[in-house]
Amino acid sequence: MSAVAVSDPKFISIEGIARRYPAAGGGFTTIFEDLWLQVPRGEFVCIIGHSGCGKTSVLNILAGLENPSDGVVVVDGQAIAGPSLDRAVIFQGHALLPWKSVLGNVAYAVSSRWRKAGRAEVEERAKRFIDLVGLNGNEAKKPAELSGGMRQRVGIARALSIEPKIMLMDEPFSALDALTRGTLQDEVRRICKSTGQTVVMITHDVDEAIYLADRIVLMTNGPEAMVAEVVENPLPADRRRDTIHHEPDFYTVRNHLVDFLVSRSRTFRDDKPAGYDPRHPPVVRPGAPVASPPANTIPFPAVAKARD
Ligand SMILES: Nc1ncnc2c1ncn2[C@@H]1O[C@H](COP(=O)(O)OP(=O)(O)OP(=O)(O)O)[C@@H](O)[C@H]1O
Ligand SMILES: [Mg+2]
Repeated sequence: MSAVAVSDPKFISIEGIARRYPAAGGGFTTIFEDLWLQVPRGEFVCIIGHSGCGKTSVLNILAGLENPSDGVVVVDGQAIAGPSLDRAVIFQGHALLPWKSVLGNVAYAVSSRWRKAGRAEVEERAKRFIDLVGLNGNEAKKPAELSGGMRQRVGIARALSIEPKIMLMDEPFSALDALTRGTLQDEVRRICKSTGQTVVMITHDVDEAIYLADRIVLMTNGPEAMVAEVVENPLPADRRRDTIHHEPDFYTVRNHLVDFLVSRSRTFRDDKPAGYDPRHPPVVRPGAPVASPPANTIPFPAVAKARD
């Protein structure tokens, strides 16, 4: 973790947000409420939880596309008041401009970011990111001429090309074949690490979360979903896709995440650990104990005991 990250632990601060929708028979359905989470600058955070728990809603609120029913999100010291080029979003479904080519879609984002840049400069930058996601040769195609995976790659190129302060990703790789998914995960990880990019990403894939994330946020099932805990990734920062399963703590953290999805995501609400405080969800570090863990870190065996 960089020095910047340590000095800016509240770069993104989600403060008691709620999302409610009018219910069919009157009243409201609470998707989630009293949700608190802080993300330091430069951190890669994944959110995991079952379908419908409100992950996309959280991301849309972070993007400024939706307002929370309660609470506030502060980014870099300022409450979010709408969408911003500082926060790039890669949506669950790609959201490309259908009348523009691949190059046009990426160039449009680049020129929105750097309004004074000349056409050649904009296109050079756009092409660089199109190459990065393996779409060179497809610059002139329209979204309708691309496969779903290729469209998603255009979305990724577009988001990366504007160097946002925060990258928000909603299952960005889920529609891709395994090979493309792996390549893009590698690229996104490499770029985010080398640029100190702050990322909040939603995924259903625990292996993807373990490979990419510094911390993994576990959300319980909805309605009234909550952050059950924040899992610190104990694997070394230089982990590699091809050898990650040999890391000593890989299966410990993997089993912890799978156990959560299989059972605790459902039972957590009625079986909360003593002292659970939604403002400070427990921080858990599965695997070997560390020499000096952060103050609110709960050693993994203690959590396992609390569940028994
Ligand atoms: N406009 C809306 N009106 C009413 N309910 C809505 C609306 N939008 C979302 N919801 C409900 O809010 C809940 C959370 O939706 P959301 O899309 O955030 O879930 P999610 O965790 O992203 O799910 P998935 O993993 O399937 O993408 C769902 O139960 C959904 O039906
Ligand atoms: Mg979703």
